[in-house]
Amino acid sequence: MIIRGGRPLKGTVSAGGSKNATLPIMAAALLSDSPSTISGIPMVRDIRTMSELFCILGANSYIDSNMMHVQPNTINNFKAPYELVKTMRASIYVLGPLLGKYGRAKVSMPGGCAIGLRPIDLHLLAMKKLGAKIEIKHGYVEAVAKKLRGARIVFPKVSLGATVNATLAAVLAEGKTVLENASKEPEVYDTINFLKAMGAKIEGSGTGTLEITGVRKLNGVTSYTVIPDRIEAATLIAAAVMTKGRVTVNNVNTAHLSLFLDKLKEAGAAVTACNGLVRVAPHKGRLTATGIHTEPYPGFPTDIQAQWMALMSTAAGDSIIKENIWENRFMHVPELGRMGADITIDGNTAVVRGVKKLSGASVMASDLRASAALIIAGLSAGGETEIRRIYHLERGYEALDEKLRSLGASVDILPEDGL
Ligand code: UD1
Repeated sequence: MIIRGGRPLKGTVSAGGSKNATLPIMAAALLSDSPSTISGIPMVRDIRTMSELFCILGANSYIDSNMMHVQPNTINNFKAPYELVKTMRASIYVLGPLLGKYGRAKVSMPGGCAIGLRPIDLHLLAMKKLGAKIEIKHGYVEAVAKKLRGARIVFPKVSLGATVNATLAAVLAEGKTVLENASKEPEVYDTINFLKAMGAKIEGSGTGTLEITGVRKLNGVTSYTVIPDRIEAATLIAAAVMTKGRVTVNNVNTAHLSLFLDKLKEAGAAVTACNGLVRVAPHKGRLTATGIHTEPYPGFPTDIQAQWMALMSTAAGDSIIKENIWENRFMHVPELGRMGADITIDGNTAVVRGVKKLSGASVMASDLRASAALIIAGLSAGGETEIRRIYHLERGYEALDEKLRSLGASVDILPEDGL
């Protein structure tokens, strides 16, 4: 991606549907015999990968203008292969539905990735508590259960993925399941709403304790719209703030971004939120350095940490940024350094000493949100920024380059060998 920076963004743009809600909702759709249609989904690579995985399982699914159709009653294979799981860790979400509905699943262990180890011990703990027999063989989790039975599961740590998987397994189990210390992320809430529309009995959404009473059968849902993508919205808002732009971002559930918006105001950004949209106006002078630490929802999202760091790189003063979710999620730091940012890391803590201005440079994207941070930095920097390995971006942002161009940014994606 080539960015000629220094232009304030101007105009109106909309966030799309949430990738991180669509993936578990797709997995939920496997629990029925009848088809489901999920609307408002983003056309991004992770969702196409999930659809490919469904094809391998024998389910029919296709995407048609931001709509996903899933026909699950043809499933005849229970193996999620390494080739797909390694590119998209959310593939692990098929474990719960396959086990709950068909009594067996073989899913590749996800392994680590750029942002850190990706353990699945809490997913397995939940499946075992529900009565599954689990073996790890040749890099695969092999799980079987005649019939899952409800259980009380206390998660020692909040995990979005394990909460989703346990819920997906428990909705068809016999009896009642209680999940304690469950994730309160909006994407879990959205998945639960979809499951309820299928006929599942779940209480306590958003409270940290979920009570699930197993039912014998779930129905497909013919019309369900996923929640807006809070991370995409935050990325667009951060880009507008950092370029001192005047931008309206539509399709935002502002409640899902309340801490981020509060932090922006604390830093001196001119943002106002109302009725599903956020308006950004140019702020005077520089932002004020403002620290954050990432935490499970409603804490500051790990998926906005890199973008926040880009913002703070030109704020006045020193900000402390602490990453509590992923141990290796500072890969963007040396790249921001190439653009003139002054950032040091000690363990999971980064100290950002704000500089007056960044300057365009050649940098390398290491993961999805790091790509977003480098784009935000590049849009505000003087001169040209060239971001290599921008393919990471396609995993989770639909046409971000087009959206930025519609706001007046000079952004082009060239074929990799064209750089
Ligand atoms: C996490 C984030 C999510 C973000 C996603 C991608 C949280 C609670 N979740 O979701 O917002 O969109 O990364 O960046 O912030 N863990 C274990 N054992 C397990 C599962 C997880 O120890 O079996 C640990 C992880 O190492 C991590 C923490 O729990 O430190 C949260 O992981 P989890 O929420 O499961 O990860 P994702 O579902 O990918």
